[in-house]
Amino acid sequence: MAKTNHVNVKEMNFDQLFKQISPEEICDNVFTLVGKDFFVITAGKEDHYNSMIGSGGGLGVLFKKPTTWCGLRADRYTLEMIQKEQTYTMSYFPKEYKEQMLFLGSKSGRDSEKMKEVELTSVQTPSGDMSFKEARLIIECKLTEITTPNPNDFYSQEAKDWINEAYKEESDYRKYVFGEITHVWVKK
Ligand SMILES: Cc1cc2nc3c(=O)[nH]c(=O)nc-3n(C[C@H](O)[C@H](O)[C@H](O)COP(=O)(O)O)c2cc1C
Repeated sequence: MAKTNHVNVKEMNFDQLFKQISPEEICDNVFTLVGKDFFVITAGKEDHYNSMIGSGGGLGVLFKKPTTWCGLRADRYTLEMIQKEQTYTMSYFPKEYKEQMLFLGSKSGRDSEKMKEVELTSVQTPSGDMSFKEARLIIECKLTEITTPNPNDFYSQEAKDWINEAYKEESDYRKYVFGEITHVWVKK
């Protein structure tokens, strides 16, 4: 993060905080970005949006388009919002915001006021999607595909154990969510 800090970030608008880059210019290591730093997925518009922390997925190419994917349990309210809105953001934060990110994984927005309680400052992107001023990287996505994995298509023992556990209850169904990257923003 360059010239911004905790104090003035809240006062600044989206254009002052972020600049657009192309997907090819993302220079983070994907394994650190996804698996170690984690991310926040947000769907909805300014009047109503919801976020959760995620820790699995990746970045790649699908249908010849730069794409993100993530694995969401079927009962996540954020997934419901993604399906309704069909656009969403994946936001990546500096390490000092881990606690706030984890808070978004501590309860569901379906039956709580967590979006009002979270100590992050919401911001609207120029396309109207929601993210947070404290993010260092924002990837905006257009929903392309949601896949429900078939347990018969799992091969390694570890993967079989995982999917069998997941399919014990309907609410535990896992969905793989793919989104075409429409915009990428980084902190100025
Ligand atoms: C570190 C961490 C990583 C998580 N990763 C995922 C994930 O990849 N997929 C998922 O469905 N839930 C994941 N969760 C759980 C959701 O973030 C959590 O259930 C959240 O409260 C869902 O909120 P929602 O119902 O408002 O969408 C994770 C939780 C934590 C603490």
